[in-house]
Amino acid sequence: MQIKIAPSILSADFSDMGETVKKLEKCGADLIHCDVMDGSFVEPITFGAQMLKNIRPFTKLPLDAHLMIEHPQTQIKFFAEAGADIITVHYEACKKISDTYLEETLRLIKSYGVKCGAVVNPDVPVESIFSVFPLCDMVLLMSVYPGYGGQQFIPEVLEKVKKAREYAIEIGRPDMDIEIDGGVTEENAQAIIEAGANVLVAGSAVFNAVNPAKAIANLKR
Ligand code: DX5
Ligand code: ZN
Repeated sequence: MQIKIAPSILSADFSDMGETVKKLEKCGADLIHCDVMDGSFVEPITFGAQMLKNIRPFTKLPLDAHLMIEHPQTQIKFFAEAGADIITVHYEACKKISDTYLEETLRLIKSYGVKCGAVVNPDVPVESIFSVFPLCDMVLLMSVYPGYGGQQFIPEVLEKVKKAREYAIEIGRPDMDIEIDGGVTEENAQAIIEAGANVLVAGSAVFNAVNPAKAIANLKR
């Protein structure tokens, strides 16, 4: 399976985002991971659809919008119109509203012709989202508690990655994208890939590197 690296612009300098995504593309990134935080589902507030709209002309890479927000349905239209290529929403935020909200949100995302995905936090069993796997283009397993970059990888998540890949195979979707987000480093990337993930989000590992292109290549290898 093709391993894809999705640098998280959460770790970037927000005053120069257009140039940053341009550089990331040159450095071999496969997707641009956009961490959207609302100050409620998670403490910090980062940016909304306007940021995606503004960086859209600077790169051809897919924009991967990770919505760490309450009531995600209210924002789907804006992110779709801003040019997001994939939108992922948290199981935990949806579950608070109703048992069907996650599935409805995924269908709403698809109705705009945008790829969709479900996300679970480190303490939530991956089985919680098995029922929506057939709808998802990607599933995202958090390997840190969402909110901040630069945290330590939680190794217990590797078991969930294995289960997710096994289940994807079981339902006839062996090539499904399984994304891991948080604390990814050149040291743990191999174990993550071996467990069955193929999309690796990397904030600090790319932005703190002296040579980001080399860091991306090393993560993929
Ligand atoms: C955490 C974000 C992650 C984070 C990744 O809430 O969803 O994307 O920025 O950053 P690192 O790679 O530094 O853990
Ligand atoms: Zn993220």
